[in-house]
Amino acid sequence: MSTGDLCGLRIVVSAGTTYEDMVPVHFLGNRSSGHMGFAMATAAAARGAEVMLIAGPVQLATPEGVMRTDVRSAAQMHAAVFAALPCDIYIGAAAVADYTPAQVSASKSKKSDGPLTLTFVRTRDILAELAVDPRRPRLVVGFAAETDDVEAYARDKLVRKKLDLIAANRVGVPGSGFESEDNALLLIDATGTRALGPAPKTQLAHSLLDEVAAGLKRKFLDADRHG
Ligand code: CTP
Repeated sequence: MSTGDLCGLRIVVSAGTTYEDMVPVHFLGNRSSGHMGFAMATAAAARGAEVMLIAGPVQLATPEGVMRTDVRSAAQMHAAVFAALPCDIYIGAAAVADYTPAQVSASKSKKSDGPLTLTFVRTRDILAELAVDPRRPRLVVGFAAETDDVEAYARDKLVRKKLDLIAANRVGVPGSGFESEDNALLLIDATGTRALGPAPKTQLAHSLLDEVAAGLKRKFLDADRHG
């Protein structure tokens, strides 16, 4: 039997990049390594939660005691996350593509001397859709990677996507973000802003889960208070 402060909770974590295919040999991806999401899944399972990890194309081993579904594109990640419902907590650590090619050509096109113009369309926003879904998890947690005005942009995302908590990090500086072993996060919710780290991602994952557990407790108390 599992023990730990997250025992009895089902947590879905998305992690890594997504690949949007353009032609059979080219795709659009990003630099997310998946380490933060995998660290969150590892920490949550170690604390007794039932964890479903929805992983984009990353080269990382499945953490002990974690169930895993591998996906490639943003559309596949959307489908896998919704198929994993119901859950108590959703942690959207994946760097999901915001755009996907309007058309995928079946054959590899030959290069020409002129410029190449491609048309992209928006992907569906998993976090934003989940936050207003009738099966909404009790806690919806997002990540934000920002290059400047980290707190302002992240708070805007928290409100716009109707999240309970957002973990923001500055990308493009050494010692933080996508390809780094360490990370520093700003946690933003309705109660205020807290700084976590810099620290190894494994340690940050536990600190972030402490905040998630506290946020969940507040929600239960609020629900009790309002009948
Ligand atoms: N996300 C998602 N579905 C998408 C895109 C993003 O669930 N189609 C989630 C990510 O998992 C992450 C958060 O949204 O938790 C990141 O927000 P996003 O709007 O993608 O941030 P940016 O790409 O930085 O967007 P912007 O250009 O608006 O800053």
